[in-house]
This record gives sequence, C-alpha cells and structure tokens, in this order.
Amino acid sequence: MRATVVFLLTFLAVTLALDNGLMRTPPMGWLAWERFRCDIDCEDDPQNCISEVLFRDMADRLAEDGWRELGYVYVNIDDCWSSKERDAQGRLQADPKRFPGGIAKLARYVHDRGLKLGIYGDLGTYTCGGYPGTTLDKIEIDAQTFAEWGVDMLKLDGCYSNSTEQEQGYPLMTKALNATGRPIGYSCSWPAYQGGLPPKVNYTLLGEICNLWRNYGDIQDSWDSVLDIVDWFTEHQDILQPAAGPGRWNDPDMLIIGDYGLSMDQSRSQMALWAIMAAPLFMSNDLRTLNSGARAVLQNKVAIAINQDPLGIQGRRLIKEKSGVDVFWRPLSGGSSALVFFSRRTDMPYRYQTSLKALNYTAGTYKMYDVFLEKPMPVLKDATEFVVSINPTGVVM
Ligand SMILES: *[C@@H]1O[C@H](CO)[C@@H](O)[C@H](O)[C@H]1NC(C)=O
Ligand SMILES: *[C@@H]1O[C@H](CO)[C@@H](O)[C@H](O)[C@H]1NC(C)=O
Ligand SMILES: *[C@@H]1O[C@H](CO)[C@@H](O)[C@H](O)[C@H]1NC(C)=O
Ligand SMILES: *[C@@H]1O[C@H](CO)[C@@H](O)[C@H](O)[C@H]1NC(C)=O
Repeated sequence: MRATVVFLLTFLAVTLALDNGLMRTPPMGWLAWERFRCDIDCEDDPQNCISEVLFRDMADRLAEDGWRELGYVYVNIDDCWSSKERDAQGRLQADPKRFPGGIAKLARYVHDRGLKLGIYGDLGTYTCGGYPGTTLDKIEIDAQTFAEWGVDMLKLDGCYSNSTEQEQGYPLMTKALNATGRPIGYSCSWPAYQGGLPPKVNYTLLGEICNLWRNYGDIQDSWDSVLDIVDWFTEHQDILQPAAGPGRWNDPDMLIIGDYGLSMDQSRSQMALWAIMAAPLFMSNDLRTLNSGARAVLQNKVAIAINQDPLGIQGRRLIKEKSGVDVFWRPLSGGSSALVFFSRRTDMPYRYQTSLKALNYTAGTYKMYDVFLEKPMPVLKDATEFVVSINPTGVVM
C-alpha cells in the first residue's frame, strides 16, 4: 500500500513538466522581435535588419560583455528569417541573401561562444509576418530540420491557424521535437491565441507539453504596455501562478529595458516584477549600444538570483492598496523570500509604511537587503514598522 502511494506521487511529480530536462529555471537570453521586428531592408539598414549579422553581433555581445556568465545564454531568432519558399524537399530554408551561411553555421557560431540558438516557427498557413508556416503535415519535417541545424529552442507562434489545429498541432510538435533526440526548449504561443484563460486554456496540459508559453498579447516599447501586462497577470494570478514551476513557465514577454519606452525607475520595475513572476528573461534591445543604466538593471545579480531561484515558485501580489501601492511576494529557497513594493503613483516618491507581520511573515528577526540600492537594510523584528520610499512608477525590491 505504502509502496503504491510512493509510486503514484513519484509518477505525478514527473508528469508535471515537459520531460526534456530543460529550463528548470526560467530561460534567459536575447530575442529579436520587440526591438528589430520584421526589418528585412539589409540594403539601407544593414546593422538592424534581420540577418545573420545581427545574431552574430548579439552573440558576441552576450559572450564578451558579461551576460553569458549571468545566465543570458539564448540568442533567439524571431519571425522573418526564412525564405518565402520551402526547398525542393519541402524544408524551411533561411533567406539566402540575409543568411548566406544558413542557420546551421549560425548555430555553430553561437555554440562556439558557449551560447544557445533559438528559432521561430508558426503553427498555421503563414507566420504572422507572412513567411511559410508549419501546417500539421509539416510539423515532423520542421522539427527534424531545426534539430539537424543544431537549434536549441523553438518559439511556435499561432497566426493563421484555428483552435482545432492548435489543439492538435502544439502537442504534435512536442512529440516531433522529442523524436529528434535533440533537447529543444519549446515555447508555445497557443494560450495567447485562446484568451489565456480556462476553459479555453488548459494549463495542466500546457505544463506537460511546453517549457514556456505566451499567455497574453505582445509587449510594445512603452510603460503602458508593461503596466497592461502586469495588470493582466496579477488579475489572473490565481489561475496562472500554480501553472508555473521548474520546466514550465508563464511568459509575460520580452524585457524592453534599454529601448526607448522606459525611464530608469520603470526599467527597475520591469526587472523586479519579471523576477518576482518567475518570468523568462529575454531582452529585446540593442546590446551594441546599451547605456550603462540599463545594463546595471539587467545585470543586477540579486534580481537575477531571485528570478532563477531553484524552487521555481511564481510570486503573487499580496496587497493592492488604494494609495496605488502594490506589494508582491515570492518564496525562495533557503527560507528566504522576495518582496516588491511597486508604486503606480505619478506624483512624487511615496513613503509606504508596513511591517513584515502585516505581510504575514512569522514571528522572528529578519535580515533584509535592498536589491537596487545593493545594500543591506536594518535588521528587523516581524512586528517592527518600517518605511520604504517608492518613486513614481518605480519599485523597492
Ligand atoms: C523524450 O521523452 C522521454 C520520455 O518522456 C524523455 O525521457 C526524453 O528525455 C525526451 N527526449 C528529448 C530529446 O526531449
Ligand atoms: C480549422 O481549419 C481546418 C482546415 O483549414 C478546417 O478543416 C476546420 O473545419 C477548421 N475548424 C474550425 C473550428 O474552424
Ligand atoms: C487538462 O489536461 C489534463 C492533462 O492532459 C487532463 O488530465 C485534464 O482532464 C484536462 N482538463 C480539462 C478540463 O480538460
Ligand atoms: C495573511 O493571512 C490571513 C490569514 O490566512 C489572510 O486573511 C490575509 O489576507 C493575509 N494577508 C496578506 C497580506 O497576505
């Protein structure tokens, strides 16, 4: 009897996440879409167009500017990389002008620098940008092609398919990737195309077939967009939070820190909230010209350690104050935890007073550390009142 129970528990534990051994903590790296979109004009804009040059440049920066050591290892291609035609054998092929070396050579370049290469496909007739899509009959051949090229991750978008095709296609791709024998991280856009919520979306199933999934719309280069995403994820946290865990992550989309839309405070807010949400950390920015402020936020070691905590428990919003302050909490390994005090205010720094007891911490004495000031705060008893000063649209973490 006891043996049966143990067996069942073990069985349940292994079936919780996609069994490819990958992404036990949220994946980190760089993804082209938000910053570089579908710019294919390599004649007039050679530095910024979607070409092998762009991905080699980003691989160089990740390897040489301290990113790789912090965990930012994926260099991910998004839409508009392929030729408009499949080859004579029906395989996808890279655009010959923009990727003259082909994807396999680019994968070697990336691997030689200790990094991993991600690619983009779309379950449907066309990609969102109008390139060849992966219809149900092309799933196996596309998985094989990506594996032969040495690709390490696939983002499978969902433009130009309906719900029936998605229901069949996303699990079929899991099987096809597994059959290649190459471990390939699998990002599914499926829930984003079905409104992100049950009953249309089954998060138990997603956790079994995908390593990460886009729940909601694309991020844009603005604070409004970040706020809209944070609001949606917190509003539905009771559904989303339990879906996440090692090997299976909710994906609120790319980090836009270092682009044009966020102030320094808003950059810290995105980093803090993505860390507390156990979100994948894919930067979409120009690593060649990144300013030192954005770099410091993205390379903050404690924020990254919180994001990468091995327990893999997604954080939650505990409190939404009428004053415009939200408090988020995430349990971490080793009896630690992370708190984010986030101000939605737009007037002036707000002095928020609370105590750890009010945040449901158990009785005791606590060591605290301010993540962005990068220094310890005074040691506190659970009942001691303390004040954090939070800048407008900013955080204290
Ligand atoms: C394929 O699936 C099996 C069983 O779930 C797993 O043990 C194996 O590691 C998987 N292989 C790859 C390459 O994902
Ligand atoms: C989805 O598309 C397929 C093929 O185009 C079609 O046969 C099917 O009826 C469609 N299903 C729905 C629910 O629209
Ligand atoms: C969701 O998927 C899981 C795993 O495949 C399955 O056991 C469960 O019945 C599904 N739930 C619903 C409501 O369909
Ligand atoms: C603290 O716990 C109590 C009892 O479980 C609960 O009612 C309250 O909402 C919690 N407070 C916070 C800030 O989570």
